[in-house]
Amino acid sequence: MCGIVAYLGDKSAYDVIIKGLQRLEYRGYDSAGIALHNEKSLNVFKQKGKVADLQKHVEKEDKSGGIGIGHTRWATHGLPNNINAHPHKSGDKQIALVHNGIIENYSILKEELIARGHKFESETDTEVLVHLIEDIKKENKCDLFDAVRIALNEVVGAYAIVAIDKNNPHELVAARKSSPLVIGLGENEYFLASDATPIVEYTKNVVYLDDGEIARISLEKGLSLKTIQNKNKTPYIQELEMHLEALEKGGYEHFMLKEIYEQPQSIKDSMRGRLKANKSLVGLGGLKDFDEKILNAKRLIFVACGTSWHAGLVGEYLFEEIARIPVEVEYASEFRYRNPIINEDDVVIAISQSGETADTLAAIKLAKDNNATIIGICNVVGSSISRETHCGSYTHAGPEIGVASTKAFTAQVTVLTLMALMVGKKKGTIANERFNRLLIDLNSIPEKLESVLKQDKAIEKIAKIYHKVNNALYLGRGINFPLALEGALKLKEISYIHAEGYPAAEMKHGPIALIDEEMPVFVIATKDSSYEKIVSNIQEVKARKGKIIAIVSDGDKEVKAISDHVIEIPKTDELLVPLLATVPLQLLSYHIAVMRGCNVDQPRNLAKSVTVE
Ligand code: G6P
Repeated sequence: MCGIVAYLGDKSAYDVIIKGLQRLEYRGYDSAGIALHNEKSLNVFKQKGKVADLQKHVEKEDKSGGIGIGHTRWATHGLPNNINAHPHKSGDKQIALVHNGIIENYSILKEELIARGHKFESETDTEVLVHLIEDIKKENKCDLFDAVRIALNEVVGAYAIVAIDKNNPHELVAARKSSPLVIGLGENEYFLASDATPIVEYTKNVVYLDDGEIARISLEKGLSLKTIQNKNKTPYIQELEMHLEALEKGGYEHFMLKEIYEQPQSIKDSMRGRLKANKSLVGLGGLKDFDEKILNAKRLIFVACGTSWHAGLVGEYLFEEIARIPVEVEYASEFRYRNPIINEDDVVIAISQSGETADTLAAIKLAKDNNATIIGICNVVGSSISRETHCGSYTHAGPEIGVASTKAFTAQVTVLTLMALMVGKKKGTIANERFNRLLIDLNSIPEKLESVLKQDKAIEKIAKIYHKVNNALYLGRGINFPLALEGALKLKEISYIHAEGYPAAEMKHGPIALIDEEMPVFVIATKDSSYEKIVSNIQEVKARKGKIIAIVSDGDKEVKAISDHVIEIPKTDELLVPLLATVPLQLLSYHIAVMRGCNVDQPRNLAKSVTVE
């Protein structure tokens, strides 16, 4: 949450930062702000709303300068208004600072600073930090770098920060703990950002700051790193693999639609080099050093949040069926505060698109302290979770920019499927024939998805009929139950329609009371081992005049005869149905949200990367 961009070099800092903030708007869009230094003055502009509102606000202002810091905010402390927007300035207006994270002990620090004569304008924890830095700088008569370093030793909480000193327009100071920060190294120019997307068009050489590190970025002296305990560190320069086209809408109206349509390719990318169906081979290189641990695991614990948690639920069915290992799927936020029982022979699998979700990170740390083996399934390369885990597999779905997760989910499910197959084969818990058939079916998923996407127009027509409803119910059984949850989540997060997902048989224990002729019920009713049961559940809805929109296997007649609408998907092994059936649910939510005039890519109150607890 919250996006940071900063620049130092000979370009217009304003242009680089604004473009970068637009790329990071998925991290929050409550307000935006920028501080620019033009060798004469340090000018700060801030505006409630989106980056575009900031641009309008500064139209007539002096935006010159080759150094600056920018911020797009997801409000934690204080209302989303102009005063609480970042950058925040010190009391003497000499230092400006942007911050992503939460300073947990800010109220104690604030009291102390007030007692020392500081006056605050905003309700934010960030303003407290910049005053603390100012106080230390004056007290110790040191430069900004040392003041920031000393201040951070007094801070409890999470932060990625970048600061600038009015008296030194050739230097930026940056630091991180628990919130991400990447430094891009150009030709005598430097870029800083919460992720690499604002940087990739200028340079591929980056340094990911580690927890507890502080960077001095100077036009004259380049980049130097220290820990906040004042130990020198050598920057580790990595090459970005990201491509600029992946960050553009490429002709689609929204990123979400583009990302839905990318799924045949992103699933292929998730499987690339890992699946050779014709040779009956499946392998995940990133796990090889921990093979034994995984094979001998007494239990797998998936920790995740949001859509990634739903992928974990699908993973539970896959691993229990294919690899016969007991699985628990945990909301990271609950797991970390529950004093859970974790043993050395547990394998904890953290699933996260961003690799930055604060609760998932904390759950990993807890499991690590209890000596469990930790595997990461992340999309963002170099992210905190991918670095905190013992081993892992990237999902390789490419950057996901729409706040509602789509291609990252199917990529997570793909990796979990590959992993379950690899473990099942090694453990001998899956018959060869089923294993080979699953490999062939998995390999053909991208092609089958193309045919699902061809039904988009028909799906849009169904969306048209139901886009004005206030409630919706989603039902599924077995491995499709998590899809019911995911379908409902997609609808509520982008169209603000109240929706609930249920295991179809549980409907009788409550939700059935909601069904009347106004209620659309989305059912995943493909031909699998629970087909007959779900047909009965559909009949129960029908008997109460609910409207049925069913996702069925190609050629299905029985469900079609009792449903109001059906969306057919190609036949596949029932363990792979989630990869196909989730796409019509994504498209339905997308079209409904567009028809309701909602901001599909940036739904209200949400952020894509939740770096606060
Ligand atoms: C936010 C996003 C969701 C995402 C969840 C977990 O709520 O809006 O789309 O599923 O965080 O994020 P992660 O990056 O850990 O998968």
